[in-house]
Amino acid sequence: MQKTSLFFIAACCIANAGQKRDYAHTTRKNVQETYRLNHIHQTVDFVRSKHKQYLPLQQTKMTMWEALEYLDTFVDDGDPDLGLSQIHHAIQTAEAIKKDGHPEWLILVGLIHDAGKILYRFGEPQWAVVCDTFPVGCAFSDTIVYHELFKDNPDRVNAHYNSRHGIYKNCCGLEQVLMSWGHDEYLYHVVKNYLPEQAQYIIRYHSFYPQHQHSAYDHLLSVYDQQMFDWVKLFNKYDLYSKEEVAVDLEKLKPYYKALVEKYFPEPLQW
Ligand SMILES: [Fe+2]
Ligand SMILES: [Fe+2]
Repeated sequence: MQKTSLFFIAACCIANAGQKRDYAHTTRKNVQETYRLNHIHQTVDFVRSKHKQYLPLQQTKMTMWEALEYLDTFVDDGDPDLGLSQIHHAIQTAEAIKKDGHPEWLILVGLIHDAGKILYRFGEPQWAVVCDTFPVGCAFSDTIVYHELFKDNPDRVNAHYNSRHGIYKNCCGLEQVLMSWGHDEYLYHVVKNYLPEQAQYIIRYHSFYPQHQHSAYDHLLSVYDQQMFDWVKLFNKYDLYSKEEVAVDLEKLKPYYKALVEKYFPEPLQW
C-alpha cells in the first residue's frame, strides 16, 4: 500500500477523535512532575551513561510476550490521556492498525512499541522511561512539552550544548544524534535485528513529538530521516488517537497477539 493512501486511512480513522495531549488541562496527577524531573536530568552525560549501562543488552533474557505481560502492571505517569495499564494501550494501538488493513509488521509495531518501558522494572524512574523525546547536545526546542522546565538543566548553560546545532553538523542525520533516554531508544536496540527498517525507525522515534508534530529539528535530519518520518507520522495517529479509557478484552484478543509476537520473536530476547 502507498504511503499517501496510508495517510488518508489514518486521517479518516482519527476524524472524530477527541483532543489529546492537552497538558495544561490533564487530570492525571503526576504528569507535570514526571516532565519536571525529565527536563532537569536529561543531559548529554546522563544519556551517555545510560547507553553504557543498557545498550550492551545484558540486563536479562526474556520473551517479548513476557515483557508485554509486565506492561499490564505499568501505568505511564507522563501520559496526559490514559490512566489504564500499558497492555491496554498496546492492544488498542494494534487493533486500530489492524482495523485499517495495514501490514502485519505494523500491527506488531503497534503492539510492542512501548515494551521498552520494561526499563522501569530494572529500577529506572518514570522520567527516564517515559515522556516525549528530544535531542540532547544542542538547544532544547521551545516546542517541547513543558519547555520552561528545562531552566534547571545544566546543559542549558553549557556553551558546547546550547546553540541551535550544538555538537552536531547541519543535516548530520539522527543516527548521529543523542536522544533523551527512554523506552524508544532502548527497545530499538533490543529488536533491531528482527524487524523491517521502517518498524525499527518508528520504534526509535515514536516519542519525538517536537519533530513529528513541529518539524523543530529539521536542521539535524538527513534526507533519509525526512523520508522515514512519514512512517513515524502515520504510526503516531494510531499511538495517540486509539487511546480510550475502556479496557480491552485481553483474554479474547490474547491468542492472536501471542501468536503474532511469537512469529517475529520465536526465542527469548536479550534485554
Ligand atoms: Fe511510547
Ligand atoms: Fe504508545
